[in-house]
Amino acid sequence: MPGPKILATRPLFEDARSILQEKCQVEYWREPERIPREELLARVQDKQGLVCLLTERIDEAFLRAASQLRIVANVAVGFDNIDLPACTKRGVAATNTPGVLDETTADFAWTLMMAVARRLGEGEALARSGKWTGWDLDQLVGADVWGKTLGLVGFGRIGRAMARRAGGFRMKVLYIDVRRVPEDLEKELNAEYRDMDTLLAQSDFVSVHVPLLAETQRLFTTARFARMKPTAFFINTARGSVVDEAALVHALETKKIAGAALDVYEKEPFINAGLKRPNVVLAPHIASASLETRTKMTCIAATNIRDFFDGKRPANIMNPEVLKTTE
Ligand code: DGY
Repeated sequence: MPGPKILATRPLFEDARSILQEKCQVEYWREPERIPREELLARVQDKQGLVCLLTERIDEAFLRAASQLRIVANVAVGFDNIDLPACTKRGVAATNTPGVLDETTADFAWTLMMAVARRLGEGEALARSGKWTGWDLDQLVGADVWGKTLGLVGFGRIGRAMARRAGGFRMKVLYIDVRRVPEDLEKELNAEYRDMDTLLAQSDFVSVHVPLLAETQRLFTTARFARMKPTAFFINTARGSVVDEAALVHALETKKIAGAALDVYEKEPFINAGLKRPNVVLAPHIASASLETRTKMTCIAATNIRDFFDGKRPANIMNPEVLKTTE
C-alpha cells in the first residue's frame, strides 16, 4: 500500500531521507533557490505531511491550501514561523527539533563573543587586504573575555551550555529567566540569578537565549541598551525580533555599548545598514550549522513524521492535544 505523501522543502540529508522513505512517498524541493510561496501552496495540496524550514510561514493561508495535511515537522527548535494555534484548530500536528542543537549553538555564540571582543572580523579583513604592515603595539587591541562577567538572558538548554563554557574562561555568570532554576543547578553551573536591570548593568557580555514569544518580542529596547556598560558587548543567536534593531543601531551609534555580534535579524535576510560597522560581527543565521547537528535536526523531523504515520506519538510534538482523538 502506498504510504502517506510528504513534501520536504529541501532535499534534507541522506540519513533523514532514508528514514522518510521507509514508508512515505516523498517529494523533495530540489531547486537551488527556496521554494516560492505559491509553489509551496500548490505542492502541499495533496500532501499529508510536510518537512519545512524556519523560512516557510505555516499560517492560516497555508493551512487552507493544505487541506489534507496532518503533520508539519519544522527543521528548527524555534517555531515562530508556525501559527501553532491555527495548526491545532485544524488538527494538524506540529513538531520541532529541540535538544540536538544546544551545544552547537552555544559553540557559535561563544565564537561570536570571542570574535567581537578580539576584533576578529577587522583583523581578518586586514590580514587579507595586503595592507598589513606587521605587528604593532596598539593594533586592533580588543577586550579580554576570560575573567569577565557573562550575562545570560534565557537560561534554558542553550543558556546553560553557555554557562558551562564560561567555567573554562573563569567568568562570572549571571542569568535571568522566567523562573529561577533550583539552587543546586545554580551551584553546578556557578550561575547567579539577577533581575534584568542588574544583569544588564553588571555584565561585560550579554548573550540572548530566549525563544521568540509575544513576551520576548523586542525585549531589548533603547532603555535596556542604555543600562549596559559602555564597554559591554551584545550577542544574539536567538531570534532577531527579540531586539528592537533600530534601538541596537542607536546604542552602537551613541556608544552606549562597545559592540555586538549577531547571527539573527528582524527581517532576515535583510540586514539593517546601521549594523554594518567594524565593531559588529555579522553572521548569516548559522549557529546550528554543523554537519552533525543539521543532520540530526533533519533526522528528528523525519522521525517525527514516520512515527506519526506509524500511529506513535512523535517525540517532539508541540500540540499533543491534536492526537487525543487518535490516541
Ligand atoms: C532554530 O533551530 O530555531 C535555529 O534558529 C536554526 O537552527
